[in-house]
Amino acid sequence: MITRLAIEGYRSIRSLVVDLEPLTVVTGANGSGKSSLYRALRLLADCGEGRVIGSLAAVGGLDAVRWAGPERGTRGGQATEGTVRRGPVALRLGVATDGLGYAIDLGLPVAQCSAFDLDPEIKQEHVFAGADPRPAGVLVERRRGVVRVSTDGGWAELARGMHPWASVLDEYAGHAEAAELAGARRMLRGWRFHDALRTDPSAPARRPQVATRASRLDDDGANLAAALQTAIEAGWDRELERAIEDAFPGSRLQLPVVDGRMQVALQQPGMLRPLTAPELSDGTLQYLLLTAALLSAEKPQLIVLNEPERSLHADLVPALAERIRRAAEATQVVVVTHQTVLADALGGLRVELEKQGGETIVAGREGLLDQPSWHWPKR
Ligand SMILES: Nc1ncnc2c1ncn2[C@@H]1O[C@H](COP(=O)(O)OP(=O)(O)O)[C@@H](O)[C@H]1O
Ligand SMILES: [Mg+2]
Repeated sequence: MITRLAIEGYRSIRSLVVDLEPLTVVTGANGSGKSSLYRALRLLADCGEGRVIGSLAAVGGLDAVRWAGPERGTRGGQATEGTVRRGPVALRLGVATDGLGYAIDLGLPVAQCSAFDLDPEIKQEHVFAGADPRPAGVLVERRRGVVRVSTDGGWAELARGMHPWASVLDEYAGHAEAAELAGARRMLRGWRFHDALRTDPSAPARRPQVATRASRLDDDGANLAAALQTAIEAGWDRELERAIEDAFPGSRLQLPVVDGRMQVALQQPGMLRPLTAPELSDGTLQYLLLTAALLSAEKPQLIVLNEPERSLHADLVPALAERIRRAAEATQVVVVTHQTVLADALGGLRVELEKQGGETIVAGREGLLDQPSWHWPKR
């Protein structure tokens, strides 16, 4: 389970450390920084797939996403316009779990003749045990090109000359002397994000799908019927019946297979025939998609839902909250939402974000001393 998340220098987040619980609900007004936190988590997950540099380049490089305010923030009220930055530009992301933690420090490329100046550089990476990457808990350390592993007899050098665009998780996860790298990568790869589930008229979930087992729901929901059927065959049938009954009393879910293609259909009371996927309302489809994401046969380590209430009718919010709460018994869940009705129905740990002086902070925190501790390794 992720216990602590730390973000520095990303969009409206100058410096933020939050503790997470099995169910954490991130709320806040529009513009408070919820999506920034969500995207920071996605970037961390990208580190596990070896594509963090590409993801940052795709949005315009570090300059386009780095915190645009002053290094010290403006919360003290002092004038800041015209202030010059002194420290290096750094985007830092870190996550601690009850097992292995991972922290990455990205910076601007050192001036050189290359067509790829949008690519930031990886300055440091740390894999650690404990609540943050303080020196005592560091297991593997990558500083610029040099990778070192902590051993009983002190530090052992694993490699040198690493490229600044390559992640140590990608390059050395197979290394026998650094099993922690594989562990950290597995941890990051066990996260799942859902914010692009489609319910529009041409949504993939409305079309018949190849009938093949699907232990997880596709990002766009294209394999909805297969994911639900796989969950049923994995023993989650009662749970699914309950999900349908909570949301659409008296209705029955059907997953007919015709010519090797399957589709979602809902037999509702008073209807002479079941309504098929193209006929379902956006809200009904959204609920089925979220149910499939939360009930999938393969239970990920973390599910992150961004604004799951989108296109959902208010009547369905309690049923959705129940699905999320039940999923959180087996999988850690983070829900990002601006809807207080959903947040209230969910319970769990509430992290309310607000903007002060252009900077995202956790509401109610007086200053940095109120933040959980996090020691970024020095550059
Ligand atoms: N690089 C940046 N530096 C500082 N603030 C930024 C930067 N990029 C975006 N913002 C601001 O961050 C705020 C938070 O945006 P967002 O995370 O989308 O909020 P929410 O999802 O809570 O509505 C926006 O008001 C935006 O103006
Ligand atoms: Mg947002």
